[in-house]
Amino acid sequence: MEIVPSLLSADFTRLKEEIQAVERAGARRLHLDIMDGHFVPNITFGPFIVAAIRKITKLHLESHLMINNPERYIGKFIKAGSNTVIIHVENNANIIENLRYIRKLKAKAGLVLNPATPFTAIEKYLGYIDHLLVMTVNPGFGGQVMVKKALTKVTLAKSYQQKYNFLIEVDGGIHLRTLAVVKAAGTDLFVAGSAIFAAKDPGASYRLLSEKLINA
Ligand code: DX5
Ligand code: ZN
Repeated sequence: MEIVPSLLSADFTRLKEEIQAVERAGARRLHLDIMDGHFVPNITFGPFIVAAIRKITKLHLESHLMINNPERYIGKFIKAGSNTVIIHVENNANIIENLRYIRKLKAKAGLVLNPATPFTAIEKYLGYIDHLLVMTVNPGFGGQVMVKKALTKVTLAKSYQQKYNFLIEVDGGIHLRTLAVVKAAGTDLFVAGSAIFAAKDPGASYRLLSEKLINA
């Protein structure tokens, strides 16, 4: 179990310091939110910035693609240094091909589902993934309130983990006060954006969340 900082709420004028702060605090992975203004209403950054981040850190980079036609960009994000690429199950007719392509390019293949998407939508893909991301907010923005109902999908996914080997990650609304319920559902990786980077001291926030996670 570990906390995964999401850079979405970081201060991008001080990106290097922000990354180093969580790295020094013990983070092993970074969560990168890629938005295209079409799949979600917000726009963030693309492979160019991922490549810049790759130069700053050796941390495992997971790119969460909230974009239409992800197949056009999977190769670019892996070339830029993404270690895991996570695609949405919604609005995609080529999921198995996309997941195979990610693995072919030697990255870990991730699949993600929105709070309103049922578990049955991803069940048939579990044999093709290394990583399952369960959204507990509607994708697009940091700092939203957790949709706790979505956590039932974590518990369902857990029952498949022995058969298929994949990590379960939860994304959205994770703070000190919501850690326990996310842990109880059976989560391996806990994405935290505003809980870390909207705070004064991201390193201290990372440490506090990690300590709380052990005792939650
Ligand atoms: C939302 C993103 C999240 C976001 C989470 O679309 O996928 O990764 O950074 O932010 P918090 O932790 O503030 O809910
Ligand atoms: Zn995300």
